[in-house]
Amino acid sequence: MTKIITIDGPSGSGKGTVSRLLADKLGFHYLDSGALYRVLSIAATRRKVDTANRTELSLIAEHMDVMFKTSTQGNFEVLLEGENVTRDLRMETTGARASQLAAYPEVRDALMKRQRLFARGDGLVADGRDMGTVVFPAADLKIYLTASIDERAKRRYKELIEKGEDVSLRALEDQVRARDERDTKREVSPLVAAEDAIELDTSDMSVLEVLDTVLHIIDFKRLL
Ligand code: DC
Repeated sequence: MTKIITIDGPSGSGKGTVSRLLADKLGFHYLDSGALYRVLSIAATRRKVDTANRTELSLIAEHMDVMFKTSTQGNFEVLLEGENVTRDLRMETTGARASQLAAYPEVRDALMKRQRLFARGDGLVADGRDMGTVVFPAADLKIYLTASIDERAKRRYKELIEKGEDVSLRALEDQVRARDERDTKREVSPLVAAEDAIELDTSDMSVLEVLDTVLHIIDFKRLL
């Protein structure tokens, strides 16, 4: 049976990096569900589809040709209709639009079907907002990562500056707050820890400390 580990949390909580490292370490598949919402946001912009056109958006969500792959340098890459869109994917504007589209139940339904297909082989590490609550409610282990808004904005700032984006820390703090607000207050699948999730505040932890803690939990629960 495929083991499933879900890692949910707000943006900047460290879930992406930790999930990728964990999947690598365990030899499991990896699902970056946020990337699916982001890729949809890129596809919709390119096709000039209005962000209010739910029917068209859910059709794109269902049919768009997306491929996740690891480059020869070991980087996580995303292809949309065969084109590498990894750079656009991480832009703040893409994330903000993704968060808007993510509020539509039709869109979430279409993407949920795609997300569940990632559960195959020995195991899956799935990261997102509703992996433990909605997409994989029977997961073997559910982790919920949090961190203060200050710390999450700082992490985002560092990441974006390294990528050459021109951003201000103050503006990022406001964006993190606005995205939290939208992701936690939406009616369908809001960002919330599953009742049976283990919560970790990563504000004062390094990525490796978080990874280590999760590995200890896996060991302690004799998950593998
Ligand atoms: O994790 P991220 O920043 O790449 O996600 C981008 C947006 O996609 C996020 O603001 C909300 C949405 N999202 C979601 O609603 N459910 C998920 N499982 C993952 C992401």
